[in-house]
Amino acid sequence: MSDVRTSLPPGPRMPTTLQTIAALSRQRPNLERARRRYGNVFSVRVHALGTFVVVADPVLAKQVFTASPTALHAGTGSPLRAILGRHSLLGIDEDYHLEQRKLLLPPFHGRRMQAYEQLIADIAAEEIERWPQGVEFATAPSFLTITLRAILRAVFGAAGEDLDELERLIPPFVESGSRMAILRGFQKDLGPLSPWGRFLRHRAAVDARLDLLIDRARIDPGLDAREDILAMLVQARHTDGTPMANAEIRDQLVTLLAAGHETTAGSLAWTVERLRRHPELTRRLRDEVDAGGRALRDATIREVQRSRPVIAFSGRLVREPYELAGHVLPLGTRIGLSAGLTHYDPALFPEPDRFLPDRFLAAKPETYSWIPFGGGVRRCIGAAFAHMEMDVVLRTLLQRVELVGDPGAPDEPWAFRGVAHVPAKGGRVTVRRRTAAAATASRVAADLVPA
Ligand code: HEM
Repeated sequence: MSDVRTSLPPGPRMPTTLQTIAALSRQRPNLERARRRYGNVFSVRVHALGTFVVVADPVLAKQVFTASPTALHAGTGSPLRAILGRHSLLGIDEDYHLEQRKLLLPPFHGRRMQAYEQLIADIAAEEIERWPQGVEFATAPSFLTITLRAILRAVFGAAGEDLDELERLIPPFVESGSRMAILRGFQKDLGPLSPWGRFLRHRAAVDARLDLLIDRARIDPGLDAREDILAMLVQARHTDGTPMANAEIRDQLVTLLAAGHETTAGSLAWTVERLRRHPELTRRLRDEVDAGGRALRDATIREVQRSRPVIAFSGRLVREPYELAGHVLPLGTRIGLSAGLTHYDPALFPEPDRFLPDRFLAAKPETYSWIPFGGGVRRCIGAAFAHMEMDVVLRTLLQRVELVGDPGAPDEPWAFRGVAHVPAKGGRVTVRRRTAAAATASRVAADLVPA
């Protein structure tokens, strides 16, 4: 292997510090500029990540997404491993990753998602009822509340006092975890007042409550009939027939929470941000809800994820000499499959700057051109859950309130919030409650449509 000549695709030659500042401050325009100059694959250098080969081409994306899991890792070196635990799906690779992923996949099967629809509709309705009328407000905090509660109930199976306790424990845990994932040099326990010490104590409190839930599930005579994901993991078996240990279940539950909470809430906030600027589309969506349909809503959710992908890159780390676009990449190179750039390629999505859900009415998105959920053996396992959740929340919202349209409002800029790229102002909008008659008509119409 030592005589393999490695090389990197060309890219900007600015000093690493300047490239890092560009990546942090004006990431999208800088990436677009590099693509115009170097094409759909180019190298950038960023502090803490090293060399990063950006890919924005569906043929190359397919190659990378389907590469051998020994050649390209996604978990090794992930800053999330220390936060989410050593079993976390996001921090492991190769056989161990495939084994844990197999245990986690069945509860996320598309058909199982139907079991959670009513639960999420109730959570969304309760929260949307609290929205103020006639004044502009940011919807993002509400969507965070909805998605957190949805995960705690559908995934963790929490209810009553457990739900209250976890709703109290999780926000400070997520907040200090997001901060500590970036501040890797500070991951030393110097007592309860040190940042890492504080984080460890938040995590221990969450783990203690999860242990209670898991131990109770293990002796629950009604376990078979339960729909929550924790109950299914308690019943899952490794290939040698042994059950998952509490630590494995805990790390995966915390991973599902971290991966699924802000991402889905951010996408919902972008949906409101887009709809406010497209009142005609909003009217069509409302009429469709009233008639019990969903095709345009599905297409809208896909177009939000095309035009406002909350996760900028799906990352891989080169572990064996790896050939890409005529270069054998050196070990340790990172590859970033860029949803933002790919989704704005006019050859793949004509008029990419326009928000046009109709483009997805006629045809479903292509696997390696539309990549908000990544791909291959690392593709987001919560994709069906996220789509169902966005669909139910959007339907509930359209049934209950009118969004006051404002086509001239300037687009909200992007902001990075630890995990996801979200609308900087939180998806601000003014709403008016729909009349009871309109809401009833909409529900009756939905009931009349066969499943
Ligand atoms: C709009 C919402 C969401 C977006 C945009 C999103 C996006 C992503 C992306 C881009 C990846 C990396 C894929 C890759 O590297 O190829 C990922 C992985 C993952 N996501 Fe999601 N996600 C969302 C919601 C969820 C939800 C609701 C859950 C669970 C409840 C979830 C659980 C996971 C897990 C466990 C992984 C790691 C998969 C693995 O490494 O095998 N995500 N997600």
